[in-house]
Amino acid sequence: MEVKENVWERLGKPKYVLAPMVEQSELPWRMLSRKHGVQLCFAPMLHSQNFVQDRKYRKEFFTTCPEDRPLVVQFCGNDPKIILEAGKLVENSCDVIDLNLGCPQAIAKRGFYGSFLQDEWKLIFEIVKTLRDNLTVPVSCKIRIFEDLTKTISYAKMLEEAGCQMLTVHGRTRDQKGRLTGIADWNQIKAVKENVTIPVLANGNILIYQDIERCLKETLCEGVMSAEGHLHNPYIFDNQSPPVWEPALEYLDLSQQYPCPLSNTRGHLFKLCYHVFSLPENESIREILAKGQNRNDFRNAIMQLKEKYLPYHMGQLPWNNNQNDYNLTLPPWLCQPMIRVIQKSNLVELETNEELNKSKTDEKEGLKCEYKLCKKCCRSKCYLEIADCLGHRILIKTKKKLSRHKEGI
Ligand SMILES: Cc1cc2nc3c(=O)[nH]c(=O)nc-3n(C[C@H](O)[C@H](O)[C@H](O)COP(=O)(O)O)c2cc1C
Repeated sequence: MEVKENVWERLGKPKYVLAPMVEQSELPWRMLSRKHGVQLCFAPMLHSQNFVQDRKYRKEFFTTCPEDRPLVVQFCGNDPKIILEAGKLVENSCDVIDLNLGCPQAIAKRGFYGSFLQDEWKLIFEIVKTLRDNLTVPVSCKIRIFEDLTKTISYAKMLEEAGCQMLTVHGRTRDQKGRLTGIADWNQIKAVKENVTIPVLANGNILIYQDIERCLKETLCEGVMSAEGHLHNPYIFDNQSPPVWEPALEYLDLSQQYPCPLSNTRGHLFKLCYHVFSLPENESIREILAKGQNRNDFRNAIMQLKEKYLPYHMGQLPWNNNQNDYNLTLPPWLCQPMIRVIQKSNLVELETNEELNKSKTDEKEGLKCEYKLCKKCCRSKCYLEIADCLGHRILIKTKKKLSRHKEGI
């Protein structure tokens, strides 16, 4: 009988995993995460065709260092030969090569990759088999679920048969994105785990440390992957909720040591400071970060926050909860998750819409603010969360998508 190598064991049995995140799981963030409990990191998705053809793209979008291990490098694409060629270029710098079968964005639809391949099982089989037969490192896949549980299970089994050696299951369907993101289905993840023999990583619904342990227990998966929860609290796997300046300053030091685009750093700091920046009293500090030209400007903004809130944090000044203009569990200077409010009215409205991004039509219908905020606060929220508000005609997310599209990501 063939003894199957267990990739997860070879990786050191990582339970705590950092998700692949375009522009956000870059080298300095990975190094930060490794210092705080993460045992396996995924680099941001790379476009296989661009990676193979364009040296500049390779240099800009894939950086690593000897300490950046164990590491999974993820590619998207639809041509087995090209994905293999891309994989060959990094197989000596990583431990696993992952195929992105989960990206639900319009750009993935146009490029025919990510979750838009999930109905093309013959093609996926060929891609996975080609990688498995020709790479020196193992192959993994990251998928979304189908509405129908039996289909998800057959899909996972097909991937295993094709040669996939580790599977990440994001417990949401392709349509669960943007304002329809909703709750991930751990029952489906558990069912996949029960029906394959390869290691499975569970993804979705991880907001606080307790979710991690609960997810491992309920899904029986080998590991748990976090994306957004980790961006808001990079110490989540350490079961800590530090004041935002601690990870922010640590990350700023790391991004000096391991350079990355300034926009990535700005994005991270905005996410870390999301709650404290939601207080109108911090508008001017927020502006420093928004307009800053370099990391010294960013550091200045973070130091101002530290100076302002350290006395409250140390208990030298009493923090009056009413200073807080919305219901947070912890004081606003502490790292904590961003909870999405699911608005039923929006769901009903959007579920009947085939194309969720028909912003023009919706604008004409004059929707009110989706977040029930004044225009100024709504603009801040959309900017921080990279979101759109059709009611206020704020299209930060759409514009960002367009600029990514232009860059070919
Ligand atoms: C900023 C951002 C970038 C992402 N980029 C990728 C990516 O490059 N590849 C991928 O497979 N998923 C990507 N995702 C999806 C996450 O890996 C993850 O599957 C999803 O966010 C659900 O996990 P969560 O509930 O912990 O956020 C991204 C998510 C975010 C928030």
